Amino acid sequence: MDKLIEEMRNIKGKAMAGGGEDKIKAQHEKGKMTARERIALLFDEGTFSEVMTLAKTQSTEFGLDKTEYYGDGVVTGWGKIDGRTAFVYSQDFTSIGGTLGEMHASKIAKVYELALKVGAPVIGINDSGGARIQEGAASLEGYGVVFKNNVMASGVIPQITIMAGPAAGGAVYSPALTDFLIMVKGESYYMFVTGPEITKVVLGEDVSMQDLGGAVVHASKSGVVHFMVDSEQEALNTAKRLLSYLPSNNMEEPPFMDTGDTNDREVKDAESIVPTDPAKTFDIRDLLYAVVDNGEFLEVHKHWAQNMTVGFARVAGNVVGIVANNSAYASGAIDIDASDKAARFIRFCDAFNIPLVSIVDTPGYVPGTDQEYRGIIRHGAKMLYAFAEATVPKVTVVVRRSYGGAHIAMSIKSLGADVIYAWPSAEIAVTGPEGAVRILYRKELQSASNPDDVLKQRIAEYKKLFANPYWAAKKGLIDDVIEPKDTRKVIMSALSMLKNKREYRYPKKHGNIPL
Ligand code: HXC
Repeated sequence: MDKLIEEMRNIKGKAMAGGGEDKIKAQHEKGKMTARERIALLFDEGTFSEVMTLAKTQSTEFGLDKTEYYGDGVVTGWGKIDGRTAFVYSQDFTSIGGTLGEMHASKIAKVYELALKVGAPVIGINDSGGARIQEGAASLEGYGVVFKNNVMASGVIPQITIMAGPAAGGAVYSPALTDFLIMVKGESYYMFVTGPEITKVVLGEDVSMQDLGGAVVHASKSGVVHFMVDSEQEALNTAKRLLSYLPSNNMEEPPFMDTGDTNDREVKDAESIVPTDPAKTFDIRDLLYAVVDNGEFLEVHKHWAQNMTVGFARVAGNVVGIVANNSAYASGAIDIDASDKAARFIRFCDAFNIPLVSIVDTPGYVPGTDQEYRGIIRHGAKMLYAFAEATVPKVTVVVRRSYGGAHIAMSIKSLGADVIYAWPSAEIAVTGPEGAVRILYRKELQSASNPDDVLKQRIAEYKKLFANPYWAAKKGLIDDVIEPKDTRKVIMSALSMLKNKREYRYPKKHGNIPL
């Protein structure tokens, strides 16, 4: 037995060594951790168990059958994060460049199989040269395996990707198919469908790796990345923080946590945070911090489509997904990106039983040829679809402007909002005062000898009628007009009432959200 154990230790030692000392040194010199170092930091100490540890490529081409590497470029298994089970696959760039071949894909599939059986999240740590060239079409088939698993798991268990290295070509699509993508800033981290060299040949465009596919680009321009972080350690911490808001699967409630905040406290600064003059902008996050437990708000897509703010928080210990307009950016108007961002977030929350809270201050959808040509109709429809489709508790608070289609898109009664409140500063109408008056009184304005005076007078009349919450409240379209300081109380009370909400839909294969 001693001999056998010694042999086993020798083999397993090789597996633990990844690509060996030189490759690990090179990895560290790039500022990157190894696959196993990342896993050690991700899980609670001593909780990681590995699967398919000793798997090796079965390919014989290009001398692959002579390879000493166990694990086939990826470490797979499960462990505990804050005491809850989670699965991981962590690509090992030191071993055959972390490239994906047939066995590598089977290991990821194994992780998904177990994670789906037991209902636990999967965290994919990506650091790979992409499809393993030596394994030809089999490696492309392997990507198919991964993509299929991503899609089958979507809406069943949360999936988080950490971009901790390169991703080129089709390798970018698994991260894109998962729920949240965390990407590290820096030269060693990038993702693009086509790299700078081919871009130069095909388009004559000269662009650096980072300008084409670095974290800054994906977090602020493309919207591919949900969380941009400064280090791998921060990426792992962000994944853990994110998981603290999520249920392990779609059959569970999100985790309650006693945050220590006073449940029914008043929101002291609410009135001073939101200017009553609708022309004045402010950062909606200041209001969110004041309302939620301990001011803790995990913002998703912080750097992209900033006119829409979305993220997770707790109210009286219960997790909520917040969708809010931010007038500090583009006056809080809804454009294509804002709608895409909100719709995806709403659908995630709905899939995982997370109640939605809308905080409304928007002048409407963004007008103009740029938005119309790029399909604001198609994209704007996503928000309507997502809110109408969602069966989780839905609470809306209109704090200021709520105009036109954007009023509907932020979740109103007829679309399925359960309870809707308005502050006294709310303005709810089809369109803003000046635009409305110019349409309704066009002829009068054209023929008036004093059009400016007429315009002013008519705007004043319109504002008196519509630029308040009472017209809508009289119609029963608003459940109550509340004092700003009571915002937390009413949200808490509504969510508590809605705790056992059940709403059913017609059976169908799936809906057809406008894409
Ligand atoms: C096989 C690969 C490889 C690949 C890297 N390696 N990519 N082996 N297939 N795709 C190997 C290298 O030969 C090297 O082996 C080791 O991994 C480390 O790579 P280096 O080049 O030394 O590292 P670095 O200088 O950091 O450059 C990393 C890199 C570069 C930028 C990722 O390796 C690269 O451009 N690789 C090719 C990327 C690519 O074209 N992938 C296919 C994309 S298409 P040794 O033995 O020296 O350690 C794709 C299709 C997916 O992925 C389809 C899904 C639909």
